[in-house]
Amino acid sequence: MSLTLNDPSALQKETNSGAVIEDFRKREYHKLDEQNHVYLDFTGASLNSSTQLEAHHSFLQNNILGNPHSVNPTSQLATKYINETRDYVLNYFNAVEDYYCVFTQNASGALKIVGECYPFNANSAFVLTFDNHNSVNGIRVFAKNKGSDVAYCPVFIEDLRLDTASMDRLLTHYKDKKNKLLAFPAQSNVSGVKHPLSLIQKAKDLGWDVLLDAAAFVPTNNLNLQEVKPDFVSVSFYKIFGYPTGVGCLLINKKALPKLQKPWFAGGTVSLVSILADSYILADTHERFEDGTLDFQNIPAVKTGLQQVEKIGMHHIQRNILELTQYLLDELAALKHSNGVALVHILGPKNNINRGGTVLLNFFDNSEKPLPFADVEEKANSANISFRTGCFCNPGIDEINNCLSTGELVQYFSTHETGDYNDMIKHLGKMRGAIRISLGIASIKKDADAFIKFAKSFLQ
Ligand SMILES: Cc1ncc(COP(=O)(O)O)c(C=O)c1O
Repeated sequence: MSLTLNDPSALQKETNSGAVIEDFRKREYHKLDEQNHVYLDFTGASLNSSTQLEAHHSFLQNNILGNPHSVNPTSQLATKYINETRDYVLNYFNAVEDYYCVFTQNASGALKIVGECYPFNANSAFVLTFDNHNSVNGIRVFAKNKGSDVAYCPVFIEDLRLDTASMDRLLTHYKDKKNKLLAFPAQSNVSGVKHPLSLIQKAKDLGWDVLLDAAAFVPTNNLNLQEVKPDFVSVSFYKIFGYPTGVGCLLINKKALPKLQKPWFAGGTVSLVSILADSYILADTHERFEDGTLDFQNIPAVKTGLQQVEKIGMHHIQRNILELTQYLLDELAALKHSNGVALVHILGPKNNINRGGTVLLNFFDNSEKPLPFADVEEKANSANISFRTGCFCNPGIDEINNCLSTGELVQYFSTHETGDYNDMIKHLGKMRGAIRISLGIASIKKDADAFIKFAKSFLQ
């Protein structure tokens, strides 16, 4: 497998990737065209191909799978397929030697394990980037409840990239703390920014444990865990290939496993429990963190999904998306109302360097007044175009984009026991939210053109 991280120049150049993906789309995703859908929400969820479903359907028709926690024949068969898939996942991420693969329900399930089990206390620190999904932000609640220090590293408003000087300061600030956890996304689920993976080794050299949220990165990039070695990695498989939903994983570096303190036990996670002796012994590998029965009917479909990605070639997926993203950025930036006012403001990077195929934007009328994203979404819905609006479970980026101050946010929370995003918008009298279009495994130029045509319908 070729393993490319952040360097688009390292992509193989031999074939026209756009043509490869067009062909794949025609064969495998014809339902999109048959039903006239324009799908631009791949960061929300990728889509499954027809072959993937047929292969898994036939697998289920031909195998009798029992609950894996036993040694009867059907149970053994389920265990065999789970283990085969586990090995495949580890191999896919080049992690066979150094990592455990814990199957979870999704990336959030993986992140929760780290939050729940990391040894936070008064002698620990948790540092995370403003750019994080709420399932990472939520870990701060575990940290704070146990008396840990928590600090956020900002990103720059201009391009939503990491403020590396602030990060350097934070990484050296907590040198006396015993346990230090840094969490950041390999790729932003909102701006598409790829944060520098070199941060992993830098932080590790300063004594930090690193949690890499790879949920938005791995759908369109290879992650080579021989090249970068975070302690923990979170993944949702439906974000890579659509089916199965409900299966993710936490990759745990073997050296970091002893650090995680599981606060309870459940079926499947223990090698021994006594009621009379009030004692238990936890399983000593991935099993320790897999509470209850795994989704044994669906986990084998993960292997099929990964095989599909390998068959297409991640370099084709990646290059096609880079080209389409550049096309979208250029075309959208060129759209002007008749009085010369720009129709679209792109938030985050305006170029194609170290970014994925997620584009964040807002529409403006010819008097430079923003168009409410909800109105834009309603119009898109009636045209069968799927994209996403709001803050995308990433409030840090939204607060930066809209220049919200700590004071006004604290004031809102201190005067509201209930509330939501729309109520906050009304209360602050400020704009919040944006429109996110995201490309993925089956995106083709026709989708980008459909969005550009849709955008043009707002021109005055
Ligand atoms: C970067 C990132 N992290 C975590 C998650 C959470 O994933 P899930 O909802 O599958 O648990 C998402 C989902 O969008 C994401 O984009």
